[in-house]
Amino acid sequence: MEFRDVLHQRRSIRAFEPTPVPPALVDEVLADALVSPSWSNTQPYKVAVVSGAEVEGLRQEFRERFQRLAALQRAPFWKKALGALKGGAMPDGDFRPILRYPEDLQPRRVATGLGLYRLLGIGREDRAAREEQMARNFIFFDAPVVMFVFAHKGLGVYSALDAGIFLQSLMLSATDRGLGTCAQGALALWRSPVAQRFEIPAPYQLLCGVSMGYPADAPVNRFRPDRQSLDELRLPPRTQ
Ligand SMILES: Cc1cc2nc3c(=O)[nH]c(=O)nc-3n(C[C@H](O)[C@H](O)[C@H](O)COP(=O)(O)O)c2cc1C
Repeated sequence: MEFRDVLHQRRSIRAFEPTPVPPALVDEVLADALVSPSWSNTQPYKVAVVSGAEVEGLRQEFRERFQRLAALQRAPFWKKALGALKGGAMPDGDFRPILRYPEDLQPRRVATGLGLYRLLGIGREDRAAREEQMARNFIFFDAPVVMFVFAHKGLGVYSALDAGIFLQSLMLSATDRGLGTCAQGALALWRSPVAQRFEIPAPYQLLCGVSMGYPADAPVNRFRPDRQSLDELRLPPRTQ
């Protein structure tokens, strides 16, 4: 594919075919992503790749954790406190989930969410259907491969910057190879299911997950949220 076609064709895929992705193809995508630039070429990132039969166990674990968390959120305060004490349901990720968005960014977040729900025929007040759609994050949208991206905390925000560049290279390479991806901050809510399965060096923090596989022919995959205009993007010059 032409580079610009790849760039414009990549979109977040939220419904996958069950077709397995050959391990060699996963390696090719990762190898492509490794050509990304990074701060002093430190490459301060690691990836935990889960595929094949292992994905099913992890899918089940994430699904249960989300169900317990969602149930806790609906519960009265005392039950919430009890649930928090019991452990397992409460997020144990390396970064605190963003519960409140900055005021200037909130409208874009809302517009994107509403746009997605509208496309899926989910009404504004239909909490159950919204929760169900949210829950799909935690079964990796049925993807046969899920990856978890970690960044070294020693470089602070620059590691996250490098990991972001790496992530985009990975997603573009996947697109070029006929695969779909969805970067998922939601998958960083819990670190423990990944830590139980992988040796993670102490300085590495879980940034996000990425589901990957062959895109299903589903309406959700045709969602194209708006982008800011060039005028909004460009900072205005000072007038004096
Ligand atoms: C770091 C990061 C985290 C994201 N987390 C999620 C997520 O948890 N769930 C989800 O459905 N989409 C997630 N997305 C996808 C964004 O919603 C999506 O990129 C944005 O709406 C633009 O749409 P597009 O990717 O289709 O161009 C994430 C994207 C990025 C880059």
